[in-house]
Amino acid sequence: MTTFEDLKTFISSQKMRVIIAADAETVVLEKKDGEVIQRLLSGGVSVVLDPLAKASSSIYIGRAKTEDEKKILGTKGETKVESERGAYILKRVYLENGEFENYYNGFSNQTLWPLCHVAFENPNFHRLWYEGFVSVNKKFAEAIKNEIKGNTFVWVNDYQLCLVPKFLNKPKNTTIGFFWHIPWPTWEAFRILPQKKEILESLLMCDFIGFHRGYQVRNFIDTVRREFEVRIEEETNKIYYKGHVTTVKNLPLGIDTDIVSNIARKDKKEGTIDILIKKILRTDDEGKDESPYIEYFRKYKVMLGVDRLDYTKGLLLRLEAIDRFFENNKKYIGKAIYLGLMAPSRDTIPSYKELKEKVEVEAEVINRKYGKNGWKPINLIYKTFSRAEIIDFYLHASLCLVTPRDDGMNLVSKEFVMAASFSKNPGMLVLSQFAGSATDLSQALIVNPYDKNEVVEAIRRGLEMKRDEKLRRTRSMAKVLEENNVYKWGIDFFQNTIESKQPTKE
Ligand code: F6P
Repeated sequence: MTTFEDLKTFISSQKMRVIIAADAETVVLEKKDGEVIQRLLSGGVSVVLDPLAKASSSIYIGRAKTEDEKKILGTKGETKVESERGAYILKRVYLENGEFENYYNGFSNQTLWPLCHVAFENPNFHRLWYEGFVSVNKKFAEAIKNEIKGNTFVWVNDYQLCLVPKFLNKPKNTTIGFFWHIPWPTWEAFRILPQKKEILESLLMCDFIGFHRGYQVRNFIDTVRREFEVRIEEETNKIYYKGHVTTVKNLPLGIDTDIVSNIARKDKKEGTIDILIKKILRTDDEGKDESPYIEYFRKYKVMLGVDRLDYTKGLLLRLEAIDRFFENNKKYIGKAIYLGLMAPSRDTIPSYKELKEKVEVEAEVINRKYGKNGWKPINLIYKTFSRAEIIDFYLHASLCLVTPRDDGMNLVSKEFVMAASFSKNPGMLVLSQFAGSATDLSQALIVNPYDKNEVVEAIRRGLEMKRDEKLRRTRSMAKVLEENNVYKWGIDFFQNTIESKQPTKE
């Protein structure tokens, strides 16, 4: 098994400076009782970039998420992030008025996001969004250039920064690796993007491009082949374009198994989940002391959902399946509940606002249909929880439903299984075949989220599965996760990128 120390040793043997650039920062600075605190994020890709930044003592460049950060940090925008594992410098890129709208809410998340996910949500195209996207990518490239010194490895993370390689323009003694975390669609879908050639040309300035799954690599190569005159070496996936070589490969992302295990293993004091649930209720229902949720966790089987509120996550399809589950399995009425923890996300974008309304309406319809004596089947909480709190939920749930319409990888499914493997009676995972993680988590109950009957049957099977079988399946998946953790992924990405780099011509 690859350890965090292995990753550290590997990187230090390469004798290179590491710069990681990602849209999201790893910690957000906040003022609490007059003191500045570093709030760790609970999900998203940046959570797994934190151990990589620590292992490489890197410079991490991320977008400041809040206005407060500028007030706290000043224009330089630097903080040291430190733990017993190591330290790195986190530098913020601040966005001007309107830049966030065009770059993040616009081109990143209303053009590229729906274009790349098969969720049947139309991408929108606006010249202004693209201009904002260009200017923010330039800002990131400038921030990176200021940090390049000697032999430098630049890790550019995800679609939000896909024009950064173009603006870096291959600096000397620099190795550039790009990881694309969302699906890469078929050429037939990608070809409608007005700026497709600029984006492809920028990506082809990297030494290496990583994707999670093989089909994403195949779609990318097919897209490049159809758009440009390129030479492609089939056995190695090397793309030769305008005198530069880029290697493309699938490297499925793993999780920070040590951190998840440490939190899950910690002796939970009696009633932690009750306190947690009470806390939730206080936010939801000010003043009330007695929480119906406390009862739920004691008396009912909890089917858990942990998602960003995003149309790619298949939340409406999931609610429809739960409706049918109660319809077909009346014995669970009054005995099981669905607890949906929905993290607010991109919430000023119209399609996200509409989805929230639709989800709430659907939940209400189902609750009216089956609810009785204070019991309601659908319980939704629109809030961001800490990592420790979420892991506590994972340990107590009877089932976890991860049913996206399309997802590059999906870390919730992996962290759920890892945490559940520390439970004496683990919950079962119902997982969409369209999540990248379905290949790694083959012992989960794999479903097509569009096939309601299949989802209903998986829910029933998961709830009724014998403890021994759940333990066997969960432990075998946890083993796969430990063997393919984020430390191994980090080494693979560094190694593949370094090996792909061609010697620079003098
Ligand atoms: O996996 C795709 C991704 O956009 C990541 O880059 C990010 O960590 C996550 O989804 C959450 O997205 P956002 O930062 O827009 O909330």
